Amino acid sequence: MEPPPVHDLPPTLLEAIHAAGQEHVLRYWPMLSRLERAHLLDQLMTLDWRGLGELRRLASAARSASAAAGVPFDLDSASTPPCHRLGGAGGAEAAAAGREALAGGLFGAVIVAGGQGSRLGCHGPKGAVEIGPLSGDSLFDVLLGKLRGIRRRYGRPVPLAIMTSSSTEADTRAWLADHDHGGLAPGDVMVFRQRDLPALDDHGASLLLDAPGTIAMAPDGHGGMLPALVDAGGLDWFAERGVRHVVSFQVDNPLTMPLHPEFIGHHLIHDAEFSTQVIRKQQPGERVGVVATSGGRYFVIEYSDLPSALAAERESDGRLRFHAGSIAVHAFALDFLRRAAASPVPLPLHLAHKAVPHLDSAGDRVVPREPNAIKFERFIFDLMPLAERVCVVEIDAADGFAPLKNPPGAAADTLAHVHAAMEAHARRLLARAGIDVAAGVRVELAPSILDEQDVAAILPAGTRIGRDTIIGG
Ligand code: UD1
Repeated sequence: MEPPPVHDLPPTLLEAIHAAGQEHVLRYWPMLSRLERAHLLDQLMTLDWRGLGELRRLASAARSASAAAGVPFDLDSASTPPCHRLGGAGGAEAAAAGREALAGGLFGAVIVAGGQGSRLGCHGPKGAVEIGPLSGDSLFDVLLGKLRGIRRRYGRPVPLAIMTSSSTEADTRAWLADHDHGGLAPGDVMVFRQRDLPALDDHGASLLLDAPGTIAMAPDGHGGMLPALVDAGGLDWFAERGVRHVVSFQVDNPLTMPLHPEFIGHHLIHDAEFSTQVIRKQQPGERVGVVATSGGRYFVIEYSDLPSALAAERESDGRLRFHAGSIAVHAFALDFLRRAAASPVPLPLHLAHKAVPHLDSAGDRVVPREPNAIKFERFIFDLMPLAERVCVVEIDAADGFAPLKNPPGAAADTLAHVHAAMEAHARRLLARAGIDVAAGVRVELAPSILDEQDVAAILPAGTRIGRDTIIGG
């Protein structure tokens, strides 16, 4: 192969590439079109070369470490923290505080929607995946609809920031433009983009090429939310709208109730800096992180980091020792986010062994079935140990958690599971409103229906539903 005419690259960049031993990324330079060169140059110029050294160091340390090595807490002394139960003690007082805060416009929302949806195998943003059992509504339709429901009931909008990534930004913006911002005022919605980090080969040594002129990069995990929000002016954007607290939640859960008055009320009453919703984890193998506490600090242990023996330990009453399953609905005081953002120490990086498409040494593109590379991510819940006051609220999974994670045929969290959970939830809400649904009939709630109060405003108690129906649709 001709030596690459790399003389047109900035000398400092060439030095950085050379010092890092990554010359192979320029292998195809002579063959690239002008556009491809511009793209590769842009990637090379924005890559954090010093940070790359840190990624390589972490990758090589991880090769010899145990599963729990990534957890900087003493797991042996850790326990499940006390949780408030939705509808339990103090619930009425909390709900009243939450309703007042919503009427005062004190809460904003962040949807983390930058993931590549690789497990689900979806093309485009997960938010656009259609999950309504009868309506075919997308996840974005459902999630933004909930915010419409809150605006209708409390008379104030919930400003919404949607976190995208290089993988999802263009399609998410297109979705918003094509769908009238999900019925929200365009001025109440901002889109911001998390950063990318490079993937490394299995040895944790080399960058991978996704194409001759493209380095394989991936979103930096939802822990990228805070720096990306700060970069985009998001904290000020919220503050200018009167927001004092922000709830972040995942794009994949159509049953989520991030702004449930009782949840945010507990957060306010306890003057918490960080509050989180959990469900009761029943089986050791459930793929949810768990909230734990040790030494006065709270943290989430990701399911992949919890050694299986500890995951299976049970209390004398039969509950799992670590039973507070995180569903990644987190409320933050805006002041806490400002303080955390000012910290010079970034959130820790977590490593994952993943299948990453790349060019092999012969220049052929390989789409591996098995993990062949290391990806790096930061997790938003690693902010939890920084918080002085944390509040944990347990909700009923049947009312607030039905994530879409896996392709058809998987044992859990598929579209079929989501449909079933949405229908069961709709039936429960209708029953609470005194509405009878005939056996075998399918029901779905329109996205902006928050609870039985909204149902009662549409259908009088005693109504009988005899055919497939979208309530409020
Ligand atoms: C996640 C949680 C787990 C929790 C479970 C509940 C992490 C690391 N784990 O697991 O503790 O119990 O959800 O459903 O979060 N995302 C981004 N940017 C990224 C990566 C992900 O915005 O760079 C978003 C995705 O769009 C999605 C969410 O984060 O909304 C969850 O990501 P995913 O990788 O599916 O996490 P899980 O393994 O399901």
